[in-house]
Amino acid sequence: MKIMPVSMPKDIDQYFFNRVKDINMINTQLSTIKLDIPPQLLITGYRGVGKTFLLRKILNDQSDDILTTFIDLSEIFGRQKGKITEEEVLKGILNSINETILQDKKSYKKWANAIKIHIKKLQLKNYDFTDASNVLDIPIPVISDNYDKLSKFVMELPQKIVDESEEVKGYIIVIDEFQLLKNIDNPGAFFWLMRSFIQKQFNVGYIFTGSVSKTSEIINMINGQEGAFGGRLIQINIDPFSFDETKKYIEEKSNNLKFTDEGFERFYACTRGIPLYINSLSSVLPNNIVCDEEIIKQTLKFNIDQVAMMWIYIWGRLSEGEKDFIIYLLEHNGAVRSEIDKELKYSKSSITRFIDSLSNKGIIESGWDKKFVLADKMLETWLKIKHENNGFYPL
Ligand SMILES: Nc1ncnc2c1ncn2[C@@H]1O[C@H](COP(=O)(O)OP(=O)(O)O)[C@@H](O)[C@H]1O
Ligand SMILES: [Mg+2]
Repeated sequence: MKIMPVSMPKDIDQYFFNRVKDINMINTQLSTIKLDIPPQLLITGYRGVGKTFLLRKILNDQSDDILTTFIDLSEIFGRQKGKITEEEVLKGILNSINETILQDKKSYKKWANAIKIHIKKLQLKNYDFTDASNVLDIPIPVISDNYDKLSKFVMELPQKIVDESEEVKGYIIVIDEFQLLKNIDNPGAFFWLMRSFIQKQFNVGYIFTGSVSKTSEIINMINGQEGAFGGRLIQINIDPFSFDETKKYIEEKSNNLKFTDEGFERFYACTRGIPLYINSLSSVLPNNIVCDEEIIKQTLKFNIDQVAMMWIYIWGRLSEGEKDFIIYLLEHNGAVRSEIDKELKYSKSSITRFIDSLSNKGIIESGWDKKFVLADKMLETWLKIKHENNGFYPL
């Protein structure tokens, strides 16, 4: 039986569909790393569109002379209770770099020695390693009074690894869910710190990615005119599958799903070509009958929690105000700021906060007409169906 996964499968290639254009575009950027031109990318796109999947595949497929590290900040932030500090993030990055070195590939073993020698040198520079919680041979310095040293150590390590090894020609680092950095004390300063190291490295490429809206505050903070990278990050947006791509994807990868023409149009309208929803809706559709519009509608209605599962989790973590804001947009089909200020019973400064945090999370977006709308159709559908079924919105 064919399966369309709703979470990250181990064997990516078995489930991965198409994205040839995106892969080529990103790989073209990445290829300059061997020419001492370090790629710096910012990859955006709706939640569930396949950014993480795509970047994991791209990293997997790099040639052996390129080291790669994938850092998922949601893992670091998820593990930690309470507030996340810059130090935690740096330690998380260090740990991920270390995992890369440790990976069970023959060629890495060859390099391990060179890396060890290099770390010894670092130690001789008299870092404070008294805590010495060893991760392989990289001890983590005590950082309470040593943030400068830790940041220097971590941020310079990738280039040093490249310099140290004959075989390694470049190092690509993906920082996924980068918008979570918004939760540390001074995200602006942290981006500037990263930038100051990154610009001195010629063979280390950084890819920042996350489900943020294209117009969000965090994008401005990292890559806007006044932002740390001041427009130097090349911004690439990953689009949902088109109607035809979705059709082909279903033909190739689904467990023999069949649709009438109207049925498929409905299916596409519900999923909007977002692979996460294509997969989750497919998993609840009957595959022994031809699905028409009505079947799609009913199946979605009865299985909405399963299809929109992600939103149950995200909704539960929003504040009352953010939820009210979302419901307002839902019931008014979007709204401009002046209207929201007048109608929504919150202060202007609160509303500004809702807008920033919700667009940083990729939940709302605004277009050329300055109207704020919900970025995700499935969130809309989920809220409407819940309201229909229960008489009130999810709490
Ligand atoms: N190119 C693809 N081919 C097949 N399935 C995909 C593809 N892209 C994404 N998916 C599916 O959608 C799910 C969500 O993708 P993910 O990369 O986590 O989205 P994002 O990181 O953009 O939020 C994945 O777990 C995977 O099952
Ligand atoms: Mg992701």
